[in-house]
Amino acid sequence: MKVLLIGSGGREHALAWKLAQSPRLTQLYAAPGNPGMAAVAECVDLDPNHVEAIVAFARDENVGLVVVGPEAPLVAGLADQLIADGVLVFGPTAAAARLEGSKGFTKDLCARTGIPTAAYQRFTDLAAARAALPRYGLPVVVKADGLAAGKGVVVAETTDQAEAALTDMLAQPGAEVVIEQFLVGEEASFFALADGRSAIAFGTAQDHKRVGDGDVGPNTGGMGAYSPASIVTPAIAERVMAEIIRPTVDALAADGTPYSGVLFAGLMLTAEGPQLIEYNCRFGDPEAQVLMMRLDGDLLPVLLAVAEGRLGDAAARFDDKAALTVVMAADGYPGTPAKGGAIDGIAAAEATGARVFQAGTALADGRLVANGGRVLAVTATGDSVTAAREAAYRGVDAIDFPTGFCRRDIGWREVEREGGR
Ligand code: AMP
Ligand code: GLY
Repeated sequence: MKVLLIGSGGREHALAWKLAQSPRLTQLYAAPGNPGMAAVAECVDLDPNHVEAIVAFARDENVGLVVVGPEAPLVAGLADQLIADGVLVFGPTAAAARLEGSKGFTKDLCARTGIPTAAYQRFTDLAAARAALPRYGLPVVVKADGLAAGKGVVVAETTDQAEAALTDMLAQPGAEVVIEQFLVGEEASFFALADGRSAIAFGTAQDHKRVGDGDVGPNTGGMGAYSPASIVTPAIAERVMAEIIRPTVDALAADGTPYSGVLFAGLMLTAEGPQLIEYNCRFGDPEAQVLMMRLDGDLLPVLLAVAEGRLGDAAARFDDKAALTVVMAADGYPGTPAKGGAIDGIAAAEATGARVFQAGTALADGRLVANGGRVLAVTATGDSVTAAREAAYRGVDAIDFPTGFCRRDIGWREVEREGGR
């Protein structure tokens, strides 16, 4: 079977690496892909957001399955167009992708189905929003509606900060915000596959969103991650499936907008139990890198079962080993990253047993250089998160990337739980 993978990040390199191992695969295309993915896929110069060109390519090349990595093409309706043209796709329709595309949509769905989540209200009017603030106490969370690439959330410690966030987010005509109660607990990422009707759990992870060691500094897309998240015990995972994932899949099916693809739930594990912070309609980046390292067996039939609506036949098994990934970013990230810096030592890093997934890389005169914010995800497995971390940093230390940096403390929560430092 021919597969077309949409995207060019470390998440997509990890998916490509795993798909390439499938005996059922005859050809893997990546659009647009990156130099790392070129080792396992044929990169085609298509813009992920150019829906018509992707649909035409899939049809012309007789692609059996399109796997969509990033959220923007899904929210824009790429899956709808592929389905309309009779092409199988792993990823939700635009109506179902509203789970990520609209925070207000997801909060309303939680409210009417009783899914545990922070108390909230939606506002389009600044005066009404300001008047509601005292009900929530401090800190209070203010979120812009719509895709914001992780930048639309302000956890305000003071009323002044909350009011400034509201003023900023409601400045555009037609803008909407959600004000919500601040939840106390530890965050974890929970993945599930859904085929429109049924859902299965598909692994857990924790990531590090802040740019600096000790979880300080500005938010990023994620500077590292590990899997599994031991804090999501089997009992908690059962509750997440029963109280959050299945009610969501059931509600969307009942609404006539069934959810098919991966559901990535951002959870807060509170004293009262798991609560939903947000949904994403795609795999996490860099969470996909650690999940793919641990997934046993063939990924392709599982994704195909999701796309064909027969997930009931499929099973997913993850290795007992832990996996950890360290993101190497270009200097300046998450601001303007330095472009063009040379990268050497990938083969040396892989010789240590680590696997290097590429994200913002490019070839310049045959040389691998940085070409984005997050550049590499150096990933390894081990019998514990502590062991996986040591192995991942052995890989990092073999890489020569003078204009890049990484955090040195990825996995610290789990390493502490395992008794290390
Ligand atoms: P989101 O984009 O909705 O995932 O929010 C980004 C980050 O803001 C989350 O990863 C949390 O760290 C934090 N956050 C969002 N909502 C809440 C909440 N209700 N209570 C506490 N922290 C939150
Ligand atoms: N690492 C978080 C995300 O992919 O949204």
